[in-house]
Amino acid sequence: MKGIFPIEKFRELRTPFYYYDTKVLRDTLACIKKEIGRYPNYNVHYAVKANANPKVLTIIRESGLGADCVSGGEIRAAIKAGVAANQIVFAGVGKADWEINLGLEYNIFCFNVESIPELEVINELAAAQGKVAKVAFRINPNVGAHTHANITTGLAENKFGISMQDMETVIDVALTMKHVKFIGLHFHIGSQILDMGDFVALCNRVNELQDRLEARHILVEHINVGGGLGIDYDHPNRQPIPDFKSYFSAYATHLKLRPHQTLHFELGRAVTGQCGTLISKVLYVKKGANKQFAILDAGMTDLIRPALYQAHHKMENITSDEAMQTYDVVGPICESSDVFGKAVDLNGVKRGDLIALRSAGAYGEIMASSYNCRELPKGYTSEELV
Ligand code: LLP
Repeated sequence: MKGIFPIEKFRELRTPFYYYDTKVLRDTLACIKKEIGRYPNYNVHYAVKANANPKVLTIIRESGLGADCVSGGEIRAAIKAGVAANQIVFAGVGKADWEINLGLEYNIFCFNVESIPELEVINELAAAQGKVAKVAFRINPNVGAHTHANITTGLAENKFGISMQDMETVIDVALTMKHVKFIGLHFHIGSQILDMGDFVALCNRVNELQDRLEARHILVEHINVGGGLGIDYDHPNRQPIPDFKSYFSAYATHLKLRPHQTLHFELGRAVTGQCGTLISKVLYVKKGANKQFAILDAGMTDLIRPALYQAHHKMENITSDEAMQTYDVVGPICESSDVFGKAVDLNGVKRGDLIALRSAGAYGEIMASSYNCRELPKGYTSEELV
């Protein structure tokens, strides 16, 4: 065992694979529970899109969090892991009829609706099932977030949500419908946000919108502010548990929640990000004209974030104590974007060494693909490998 990894066990497994440290996950969940415990009307729905590995989902469900789903498949995964249907919210800009029907059959807590055409379909399908669907409107707050452009969602130019100027119209339409019940407002400004000021800007916008609605005597039971809290990719060991205290207290301080209201969160990355590591084997060390490459058996098919968002995942050679050298760390896929990092310092690398790509528990395994007819990576928990 070097550091935090059971290397002897790793040697028995086919690489690449995801490794989930359940102590980190459980400690993270305990911290969330402790911090939201201070606010009786706060509720966290784990964003299943970040990681739907059944073992990970089950641990999250055991901690009592609900689920934020964006597809029928995610609703099924959440239900299978034991999440109560009345703790499931269902978001997404393009919900298919079968997915809406599934949500209705399970009587999920709420549909986060993104357009009038979608609202009409939900009303129709609910009528056919003889039900009333609870809906919240996802409002695009036009609040920027200091994060990568591909994961900013709350700007007017993004496809998500209903624009602020249409908010009252949409609510008026919903109030005329017999098979939907308007219960709340939903927001989400982006992901991997570390500047609490961005969340404060969202709170200010929510306050404005609430005042506007109250002037028209429209009362909202639930406010859902989405997710977005980021993690420290550069130093996964320094602060493995994100700063939930500052996060929730930013909302407690700045969001003017009415006494009867419940505040909902949809955290994904902050829950699972730091517990996961992609473990990969070095196939070859190749000398180039002016650099050397460490060629791994993991590629962008196993972890796409570096190729897609120029994301940085800290890399460590967990089987070498040799002096540091500099490598371009790449995968085997036939794409020049299949690069995990350039000029990365690693303990001297040789064929067969194991490289850990850290902070990969969110949007890692779940975004894997079988491009090049590759097998999907498996996921193991630390509890299985003792
Ligand atoms: N709620 C909504 C409506 C969302 O769209 C998202 C993420 C979340 C909650 C959860 O956000 P989180 O707490 O994880 O930041 N694949 C990208 C991230 C895409 C996020 C999409 N929406 C990545 O690897 O960085």
